Amino acid sequence: MTFDSASKKREYVNTMFARIAHRYDLMNRLMTGGQDVRWRRLMVREAALPPGGRFLDIATGTGDVAFEALRQQPDLALVVGADFTLPMMHAGQARAAGRPVHWAGADTLCLPFPDDTFDAVASGFLMRNVVDVGMALAEQLRVTRPGGRVLVLDVPRPPDTLGGKMFRFYFHRIVPRLGGLISGQPDAYGYLPRSADSFLRPSQLAGVMEAAGLRQVRYQMLMLGTVALHVGVK
Ligand SMILES: C[S@@+](CC[C@H](N)C(=O)[O-])C[C@H]1O[C@@H](n2cnc3c(N)ncnc32)[C@H](O)[C@@H]1O
Repeated sequence: MTFDSASKKREYVNTMFARIAHRYDLMNRLMTGGQDVRWRRLMVREAALPPGGRFLDIATGTGDVAFEALRQQPDLALVVGADFTLPMMHAGQARAAGRPVHWAGADTLCLPFPDDTFDAVASGFLMRNVVDVGMALAEQLRVTRPGGRVLVLDVPRPPDTLGGKMFRFYFHRIVPRLGGLISGQPDAYGYLPRSADSFLRPSQLAGVMEAAGLRQVRYQMLMLGTVALHVGVK
């Protein structure tokens, strides 16, 4: 799927997530075989949050990364879950069960927080969807305190290997059908593999993170090289 303009992509992403919000969590568990839970757990560990720290889960969706931060460190002083699709956060609020996440409507390209606010800023499966990855990282870096971490978990462009080809087959042929059955929105789950195909390769994303001003950038590949977790320090 190609978009005529940045604003068309932003609008498509926003309304698409609103359409699938009610089935988002179930579909994640099904298409990853439950592995997505493990990846978020790892990302929060890599955030290296200090006791009483402040954490921003940007593009929180239904809140899984924010909930995981509170599970690992119930003593955090502030956990913010921010997203520009309110129905995703409404689904998250319905399962918050009293967990103290501060929900905020926000676009990652223009965050409503002062400079140097958070000990770590993490995004799960956001970056493929933004219209300007460099600008999103610059904004995440701005609200991170010096020495804090910026973390990016996402599905990069699959490699041109046999494994990559098999993953493409699964992602393009099986996932949209499954997504259509579960959510009634096959186009949303057709967008998912296409957005990975047009995203950066892991080494390219590391380069963009460095260009945005992050230091000590490193990444690890998960799920047979189909998912990447990047970490950088401000
Ligand atoms: C695939 S979901 C990920 C949700 C959650 N982080 C997770 O790990 O399951 C992507 C989320 O990014 C949000 N999103 C996409 N572009 C955004 C933007 N520019 N600003 C804020 N949120 C955005 C969508 O609304 C959606 O909730």
